[in-house]
Amino acid sequence: MRTLGLYIHIPFCQQKCNYCDFYSFSATDKAKEDYINALCTHIEMEADCYKDCEFDTVYIGGGTPSILDPLLIERLGLAIKKHLKLTQGAEFSIEINPGTLTEEKLHSYKKIGVNRLSIGLQSTDDKLLFMLGRIHSLKDFEASYYLARKNGFDNISLDLMYSLPNQTKEDFLRTLKKAISYKPEHISAYCLKIEENTQFGKIKDILVLPNEDEEYETYLDLVDTLEKNGYSQYEISNFSKEGRRSRHNMKYWLSNEYVALGPSAHSFFNGKRYSYNPSVQEYVDSIQNGIAPKKQFEEENRYSLSKIDEYVMLRMRLSDGVSCEEFKGLFGKNLLCEYPRLEEFVAQGYVSCKNGAYSFTPKGFFVSNYILTEILSF
Ligand SMILES: C[S@@+](CC[C@H](N)C(=O)[O-])C[C@H]1O[C@@H](n2cnc3c(N)ncnc32)[C@H](O)[C@@H]1O
Ligand code: SF4
Repeated sequence: MRTLGLYIHIPFCQQKCNYCDFYSFSATDKAKEDYINALCTHIEMEADCYKDCEFDTVYIGGGTPSILDPLLIERLGLAIKKHLKLTQGAEFSIEINPGTLTEEKLHSYKKIGVNRLSIGLQSTDDKLLFMLGRIHSLKDFEASYYLARKNGFDNISLDLMYSLPNQTKEDFLRTLKKAISYKPEHISAYCLKIEENTQFGKIKDILVLPNEDEEYETYLDLVDTLEKNGYSQYEISNFSKEGRRSRHNMKYWLSNEYVALGPSAHSFFNGKRYSYNPSVQEYVDSIQNGIAPKKQFEEENRYSLSKIDEYVMLRMRLSDGVSCEEFKGLFGKNLLCEYPRLEEFVAQGYVSCKNGAYSFTPKGFFVSNYILTEILSF
């Protein structure tokens, strides 16, 4: 049976963080309920398209899914189970923000089959958390984390960010070591990106940010510290204990199919990439009028990469890299003939070639965007 991933976007947050440009905002209880009802109807409307498919991963992300009332999350879980086939043992993740979690919510997650939590810690320094506009302190995080453990969640990922304003490498390594001390199964660590449409974007000229050399040093120490503590890197920003990679996120990088519901959510299904407009109002209105929200197909609205470049770009995000044999099998071409400059970066230590696969070294990962633009044909 054909297998798929399912992503559901919850575009609500208690308050907007100063760095974040994900599609999310604060909303009334009524708006949240209308949205969940619309999502449930949308799942039912679309169910027929997936009658020959099984979902082996589900990811409820945001925004802040843990802001939802337990009854709403159960309603959503019921709709998923009623209208879609889930594989036995499917990975079922939900994103949690410290400061929004309760035991009752954890019970609801268990009830609908959630078996993986992704908690946004970002930093263990309360001053930095405040500066980022987070709604929680380290103590709030610890309360959420231990509550989740007490309630039997044995697969937890933590999100961290580095290269924050006024943060030194040593500051970040303190956060990292503290995060490791909780023994999560998975850690994602992202370098802060200043996005135009955010509070940080507006004041970027006065922010004191680490320079590129400091960022580079921090990244190398991050990879090294995590490796030494039993977290292997499997993607630029993702590290896990043995067997605990995010199966859902792997689908994005392996170009496997996934269906995503909700405003701003992006899907890859039947060989096509499409998304829904980032407007909750439009999404809910359309469904309430009995019309499925309009899918914006990528070719219609964006410049897209060739299939072969896209494959190489996504695979190179993974530590496993691009296998010459798989490449040949898929495209009937020799990887090095297509991308001869790979060898140049091998010679410079940015790319390695092991067991017939090309992949970035840690220092290559750091400049991967630059190298990919040099290697690929766009
Ligand atoms: C989908 S977001 C939100 C998850 C959740 N709402 C939270 O805040 O914890 C997932 C992660 O992306 C990261 N992130 C968001 N904006 C970022 C930015 N501008 N630069 C780097 N990382 C960012 C944060 O680590 C965040 O936890
Ligand atoms: S980082 Fe998370 S909590 Fe903060 S605004 Fe973005 S989605 Fe919401």
